[in-house]
Amino acid sequence: MVRGFRLLCLVGTVSAAFTGNINYLSPSKHHASLGVSISKVAKRTYTNSPWSSSQLNFTHGIASGDPYDDSVILWTRAAPTSDNNESNITVTGYVPLYDHSTEQYVAKSDSPVCVDWKISSSKSFEEIVDSGTAYTSSDIDYTVKVEAKKLKPSTTYYYQFNVCNSNNTSPIGRTKTIPSANDEVSDPIRLAVYSCSNYPFGFFNAYGNPVRKDSVDYVVHLGDYIYEYANGEYGWGDSYGRIPLPNREIFTLYDYRKRIATYKTDLDLLASHQNFPWISVWDDHEVADNTWRSGSSHMNNTEESFVMDGGVSVDQRKMNAVRAYFEWMPIRQVDMDDNLRIWRDFKFGNLFDLVMLDTRQYDRAITDVYWNTEYLGEIYNDASRTLMGPRQEAWFYRTLRESSTRGATWRVIGNQIIFSRINSSLSTGADLPFNYDQWDGYQANRNRTFHTIYENNIGNNVFLAGDSHASWVSDLVWLDEHPYDPSTGSGSMGVEFAGSAVSSPSPAGQNITIDAAMAASEWLTAANAELQWQDLYYRGYYELYISHEKVDAAFFGIPTTGVRNGDEIPLANFTVFAGENCLHRTDGSPAVGKVETGSLKGGNPTLSNLTHDTETGKWFTYTGP
Ligand SMILES: *[C@@H]1O[C@H](CO)[C@@H](O)[C@H](O)[C@H]1NC(C)=O
Ligand SMILES: *[C@@H]1O[C@H](CO)[C@@H](O)[C@H](O)[C@H]1NC(C)=O
Ligand SMILES: *[C@@H]1O[C@H](CO)[C@@H](O)[C@H](O)[C@H]1NC(C)=O
Ligand SMILES: *[C@@H]1O[C@H](CO)[C@@H](O)[C@H](O)[C@H]1NC(C)=O
Ligand SMILES: *[C@@H]1O[C@H](CO)[C@@H](O)[C@H](O)[C@H]1NC(C)=O
Ligand SMILES: *[C@@H]1O[C@H](CO)[C@@H](O)[C@H](O)[C@H]1NC(C)=O
Ligand SMILES: *[C@@H]1O[C@H](CO)[C@@H](O)[C@H](O)[C@H]1NC(C)=O
Ligand SMILES: *[C@@H]1O[C@H](CO)[C@@H](O)[C@H](O)[C@H]1NC(C)=O
Ligand SMILES: *[C@@H]1O[C@H](CO)[C@@H](O)[C@H](O)[C@H]1NC(C)=O
Ligand SMILES: *[C@@H]1O[C@H](CO)[C@@H](O)[C@H](O)[C@H]1NC(C)=O
Repeated sequence: MVRGFRLLCLVGTVSAAFTGNINYLSPSKHHASLGVSISKVAKRTYTNSPWSSSQLNFTHGIASGDPYDDSVILWTRAAPTSDNNESNITVTGYVPLYDHSTEQYVAKSDSPVCVDWKISSSKSFEEIVDSGTAYTSSDIDYTVKVEAKKLKPSTTYYYQFNVCNSNNTSPIGRTKTIPSANDEVSDPIRLAVYSCSNYPFGFFNAYGNPVRKDSVDYVVHLGDYIYEYANGEYGWGDSYGRIPLPNREIFTLYDYRKRIATYKTDLDLLASHQNFPWISVWDDHEVADNTWRSGSSHMNNTEESFVMDGGVSVDQRKMNAVRAYFEWMPIRQVDMDDNLRIWRDFKFGNLFDLVMLDTRQYDRAITDVYWNTEYLGEIYNDASRTLMGPRQEAWFYRTLRESSTRGATWRVIGNQIIFSRINSSLSTGADLPFNYDQWDGYQANRNRTFHTIYENNIGNNVFLAGDSHASWVSDLVWLDEHPYDPSTGSGSMGVEFAGSAVSSPSPAGQNITIDAAMAASEWLTAANAELQWQDLYYRGYYELYISHEKVDAAFFGIPTTGVRNGDEIPLANFTVFAGENCLHRTDGSPAVGKVETGSLKGGNPTLSNLTHDTETGKWFTYTGP
């Protein structure tokens, strides 16, 4: 009751144009005192706005995301400055000046900015389906996030913002709703899947290629959208003129805002946001390297660490990162009382459920922060260990069961880290063969997931992963618990497609040669029964084409991130037929796919259609600008 009453007061005292900007309600619409005080911001609206429309720019393009069957999130930033606000905390009371001679409130530079938005099924905006007005201000770094409603399922829309009462418009964006949960889906649905875009490691060509090909409907991002490091710490930004600002390890709210803003100057990233609705989750680097519930590799929850890091605690840093992420990403906050929650699901008609997890920031037990690797080797199989925390785990298992019960053909699980067991003693030493920062370090959580899948006989599972900067394609098997035959795939309950990075370097060496990468891949596919294809050399992404009959996966490699270009190499293709629950084996051959590079269990790369770039020493197929 109390809660309802408070909400009524809030809505009653400020205009809908303020509450229309979702970022004012973050982190909690039920606890206004925790976020920005909308009524105080509203008081800074003056009869004479200080902003003439020519002073305001749409500084970082536009974006859309989290499509439902009847609504989608639209994003932009309308600001008098491309710089970002440094304020760590909420606004304290402010009383606008009153000029008695003109009998008007005096314009102040903290005045909110007003934007209108509209959405239409045609690019010429003949018929407006939904529209509105929203305010933004320095408190939320001039970001605008609105929910466009009244939309039809599976429909393409165009949207645009403009500064109120002016012809100062944003670019036109394109977006698309998803089918309604009960819709019979007949056309295949196409996704591009990304992870690990690191600005100083090069241009985000991978983001632009599906735009140039117009090859997908939606973009799924599995995290590491930004990195927290200074340029010299991790990156070659000097060689490419791509210095991540502010050029230091980031801690404050200003830092996180500025860093995302810097990333959002990459033209291919902007093009992807403009053309496709995104569904994204964070991994560790949106906050810091190897984060877990109360620390990260550079930070312990100790006083010493606190002092070292400029007085920002682990929790404060996480809060800054999370706030900047919600401000700057076209993402829904599905639980306004739980501002760390980004795990959520999307029902693509009767075709598939997309289940997006947070295995990183939400409630993760301690991970490998490099000085504790041996300790992790002792505890990694403890029953209490969790990547997701009990609340998310319970939701995840329930969501899998309900998805199967409701009869969705596929379950596509978007997650950060590699799910399959990977013995990589090649790089970590035979004593400690596993990467404890992946699901391998949280076996109990993985076993509980497998238990749910096997116990309820839930088939057609497609796990997606990023994080590793390399490509890994596996059958989905509970090794040492259920019999599995790598040559036929029997015993498997689905597949895992783990993709390479947009630009972050290979985990096997920043400038690894193709021969060394191939040798390492061959070792990995030989050492791991369920790992069917592996590539360590190429940066890239993959596309999924999902129909009731099958899921096709196409992996693309980026020949170079050193210059902006549209080149790419079709690296490998795999098919999963509904009901087969494993990678499809071609008739009479043990090979599970068609690949141009990397190591394929039971097969060899063909390399037949590739062109050799003599300048870079790399192989590529030209796909046009
Ligand atoms: C807005 O854009 C115009 C035209 O590109 C530019 O001249 C101006 O400096 C920009 N203003 C701001 C505040 O970024
Ligand atoms: C933000 O927080 C950091 C760390 O506590 C502090 O150094 C900085 O001065 C604060 N900035 C503002 C504008 O309050
Ligand atoms: C940051 O936001 C606060 C609150 O609106 C405002 O007082 C301050 O002037 C802003 N700073 C800049 C640099 O815009
Ligand atoms: C916008 O442009 C049109 C056509 O040039 C003009 O008629 C109209 O007055 C302009 N509107 C504003 C608010 O400047
Ligand atoms: C965290 O603790 C470990 C182990 O005591 C230590 O080696 C490391 O330097 C600490 N890091 C920070 C940032 O305090
Ligand atoms: C998980 O399952 C594997 C395979 O059966 C088993 O070796 C391991 O001990 C299990 N761990 C936990 C914590 O359940
Ligand atoms: C890898 O190559 C880049 C770009 O040429 C160069 O800047 C960097 O120093 C190299 N890194 C290593 C570890 O050799
Ligand atoms: C990892 O693979 C190596 C090489 O095949 C093997 O010696 C080792 O026993 C494996 N470790 C585990 C835990 O499976
Ligand atoms: C994989 O499929 C894509 C898209 O259909 C195609 O362009 C490519 O040539 C195929 N690659 C291989 C290695 O078969
Ligand atoms: C690759 O090249 C071979 C001949 O060298 C050709 O038969 C085949 O169709 C090509 N494949 C693709 C996917 O272009």
